[in-house]
Amino acid sequence: MITKNEQLRIPSTLMEIDHILGIFSAKGGVGKSVISVNLAKSLVSKGFKVGLVDGDIYGPSHPVLLNATDMHLKVTNQELLDPLEKDGLKFNSMGFISAEKMPVIWRGPMVSGAVMQLMAQTNWGKLDYLIVDTPPGTGDVQLTLLQKIALSAAIVVTTPQDIAVADTMKGIEMLKKLNLPILGLIENMSYFEPKDSKKRYYLYGKGGAKTLSKEYQLDLLGEVPQFEFEESNLTNQNMEISKILDLIASKVVKKLDSMSSKNKSLIPQVNK
Ligand SMILES: Nc1ncnc2c1ncn2[C@@H]1O[C@H](COP(=O)(O)OP(=O)(O)O)[C@@H](O)[C@H]1O
Ligand SMILES: [Mg+2]
Repeated sequence: MITKNEQLRIPSTLMEIDHILGIFSAKGGVGKSVISVNLAKSLVSKGFKVGLVDGDIYGPSHPVLLNATDMHLKVTNQELLDPLEKDGLKFNSMGFISAEKMPVIWRGPMVSGAVMQLMAQTNWGKLDYLIVDTPPGTGDVQLTLLQKIALSAAIVVTTPQDIAVADTMKGIEMLKKLNLPILGLIENMSYFEPKDSKKRYYLYGKGGAKTLSKEYQLDLLGEVPQFEFEESNLTNQNMEISKILDLIASKVVKKLDSMSSKNKSLIPQVNK
């Protein structure tokens, strides 16, 4: 008899993962990767078992953001990869596969195929959360991925500018069409607050995500300020960003818990 999971074509590597959360944005450079990495770290600090996939195949940023540029994935001839692990977080990214070894796992020419491999052909083991930093761009790549990937829910990252908001609307419409539950919005680079000052500067305008959250009745999970740090420090020494992401992570945990178990076991976008 065909089990429900087989029917939904959930790869066996993903069966022991409670929630797969896709981090989306309709534009590049809004901080999707910074948010994904920090959210994953916050969930680890709360005691959860967490995995992180870098969906950016051509310009992977996780090795730098995780301060792990010296780590490499062991690519064997076996079907499955073992994820890398640091400070309790499991992760993988094309950036950890050296150029010579790339062809071994690169069997699909499509970005979505490569992301699927990073996600599904990895020995994650039992996880509470798998965070998927989705590939940049909208349109075909994202759509193909969305239709193949067993996501439980999405988070949408945007910045305050009008132009970002307009693009984000298109992204939200796409997620809605696919019936993927959206946990909420995160506004990144919302404002800049110089050290030792309480004055906030709204460099990119103000309130873009609030407008979106009203328009689509989505929770604004958090507003992350602009920091003046080097990339690798964004994750390691920035207490402020981790405080904000901790609050966002708590909301995410609560929201995913309250999704009914029925909802969790269904993949809305392939189940329509
Ligand atoms: N809150 C922030 N403060 C300062 N710099 C940021 C912030 N968020 C992202 N950045 C920087 O902006 C650039 C784009 O971020 P990234 O996460 O790579 O975006 P995306 O994944 O959406 O393309 C990177 O150089 C990153 O370090
Ligand atoms: Mg990125």
